[in-house]
Amino acid sequence: MRSLKVNLDKKTLSSYEIRIGKGILDRMILLIAKNNKAARYVIITDSHVNRLYGQAFLTAFAEAGLNASILEVPAGESSKNISTVMDIAGKLLAAGADRGTVLIALGGGVVGDLTGFIASIYMRSVPYIQVPTTLVGQVDSSIGGKTAVDLPQGKNLLGTFYQPRAVFTDLNFLDTLPENEFNNGLAEIIKYSIIEDEKMLKFLEENMDAVKNRDSGHLLKIIETCCRIKKSIVEIDEREQGLRRILNFGHTLGHALEAVSDYTLSHGEGVALGMIAAARLSVKMHYLPEDEVARVEKVIAGAGLPVKIPASFISDAVIARLKMDKKKKDDVIHFVLIKKIGMPFVNSSVSEKLIGDVLEEMKA
Ligand code: GLY
Repeated sequence: MRSLKVNLDKKTLSSYEIRIGKGILDRMILLIAKNNKAARYVIITDSHVNRLYGQAFLTAFAEAGLNASILEVPAGESSKNISTVMDIAGKLLAAGADRGTVLIALGGGVVGDLTGFIASIYMRSVPYIQVPTTLVGQVDSSIGGKTAVDLPQGKNLLGTFYQPRAVFTDLNFLDTLPENEFNNGLAEIIKYSIIEDEKMLKFLEENMDAVKNRDSGHLLKIIETCCRIKKSIVEIDEREQGLRRILNFGHTLGHALEAVSDYTLSHGEGVALGMIAAARLSVKMHYLPEDEVARVEKVIAGAGLPVKIPASFISDAVIARLKMDKKKKDDVIHFVLIKKIGMPFVNSSVSEKLIGDVLEEMKA
């Protein structure tokens, strides 16, 4: 089992370990019993993950003499809302959960964000532990303490920064992960390689087939590298005042494309197209040599992710969506562009005309 420490602002209390390995359930329980002793553990999970792993978790906690129960939410983004928060909070109260309770987020990004949000506000906050079961969760969303639920007006509009006490990443969960979910994770992995690690990009270029076949050795190496990159960014900029924005590479246009597709495009597909668009914008603005775009497109295509925007998409609708997102932030679109692989920067002056041109160029 590998271990990485997230050191936050020299506050030892909010620093935590990310543990990564394959088949680490028993060791995870021992470590929780040792480092996060609690009178009660409540595992929050979704209907899919509960069916596959809920009982194994309850048994493992019980065998270690720990008092654990499960609360289930329906699988999918539709659970990430304030009524689910109210529902879970009511059930926590009914179960007698108090500030001596530790919540366990067992699931993907939705469960992680939702559980983190509840943990940050329930009885003015209780500790929580992330056990990510998706590749996106393992390389990205379980680390860094972003918690949120959606509002009807948009995603992640209610949330907090609230760090978990520990993250346990078990590669065994990837054995049951559907292909499209795995590809969502690959998009984030490609993102990390483009913004921060040319060596990992090369590794992906040379080993994509084995990675797609879920080779454990390769995945362990990749997941650890991504966690290392993410933790070092979060250590410097926990609250996304600056540097952390580079993690949004591909996400600005990606989110707009997802929304315009009415979420028929997956998050990974949106991010894949957003990364190509960001690379193309970087070329058009004379930051990046043109041949780097082909490299970005090739690795994305190799991962089974799209490189072309569906012809039916209306570029103006994508731009209108970008403007909506801009109003929700600080009235500026922060595009993450690149000067070369491993050298991202934030640019706030990308023109609408250039965005429109790139969207048209990328149409199938
Ligand atoms: N997923 C981007 C971040 O955590 O900042």
